[in-house]
Amino acid sequence: MSKENLLPAHVSLIMDGNGRWAKERGKERVYGHFEGVNSVRACVEAAIEAGVKYLSLFAFSEENWSRPDDEVSTLMGLMVKAMANEMDSLDRNGVRFVVLGNRDRLDAGLNDEIERCMERTKGNEVLTLVIFLSYSGKWDILQAAKKMARDMLAHPEDIADVGPDDFARYLVTDGIPDPDLIVRTSGESRLSNYLLWQGAYSELLFVDKLWPDFRKEDFRKALESYAKRDRRYGKVK
Ligand code: IPE
Ligand code: IPE
Ligand code: MG
Repeated sequence: MSKENLLPAHVSLIMDGNGRWAKERGKERVYGHFEGVNSVRACVEAAIEAGVKYLSLFAFSEENWSRPDDEVSTLMGLMVKAMANEMDSLDRNGVRFVVLGNRDRLDAGLNDEIERCMERTKGNEVLTLVIFLSYSGKWDILQAAKKMARDMLAHPEDIADVGPDDFARYLVTDGIPDPDLIVRTSGESRLSNYLLWQGAYSELLFVDKLWPDFRKEDFRKALESYAKRDRRYGKVK
């Protein structure tokens, strides 16, 4: 990798292990989610300090809707609370706040609050913080395919010319570069239906620490690990 590419432009974190973290302490799973917010704050700070331009977080998957109602509502409530608590500081630090996912499934109050925060911070340029909420990779690809199909109905002669970049413009991540590095905490080595299209050539890092234990130093170590990778994109060097 050339020297200027040693720093990933986009780091994505699959924040996993909150429930186990709480269980280890004899507490309810939600206690781990609360503590996980402190890890989010730490990683945002670490990303800004390192000069990373895009930080994305997998906060809630489409499949997570199948969890017990009280856990789902606690997580949604936590999202509202975290936005209320953190937005001044994020805005002050030049963070552009973006939420991507199946927003139709979120309740109206949460959607309004998300809209307000996105509008307020849209001009910020230090870091783009993307929260994937009610997101899954297959959902994203399918909604993109449906939207594109609708557009193509009027121009069937153009279908043969559609390339990957044309298709990617229909994904919810349009305008956000693909993640250079995807880190998953908690020791699980899977993507759990995360950025299936966008992660095609992402470097993957699986770390054993549970999300509430993942802090600045761990983020910095992930950047160091990335700097040693050799990204070939299928080519011979
Ligand atoms: C990650 O922690 C947070 C979400 C998926 C919302 P988990 O809640 O999955 O915690 P574990 O993996 O069960 O320990
Ligand atoms: C992935 O974690 C989703 C998020 C971190 C938001 P899960 O805990 O839902 O994934 P599985 O069930 O272990 O695959
Ligand atoms: Mg989990």
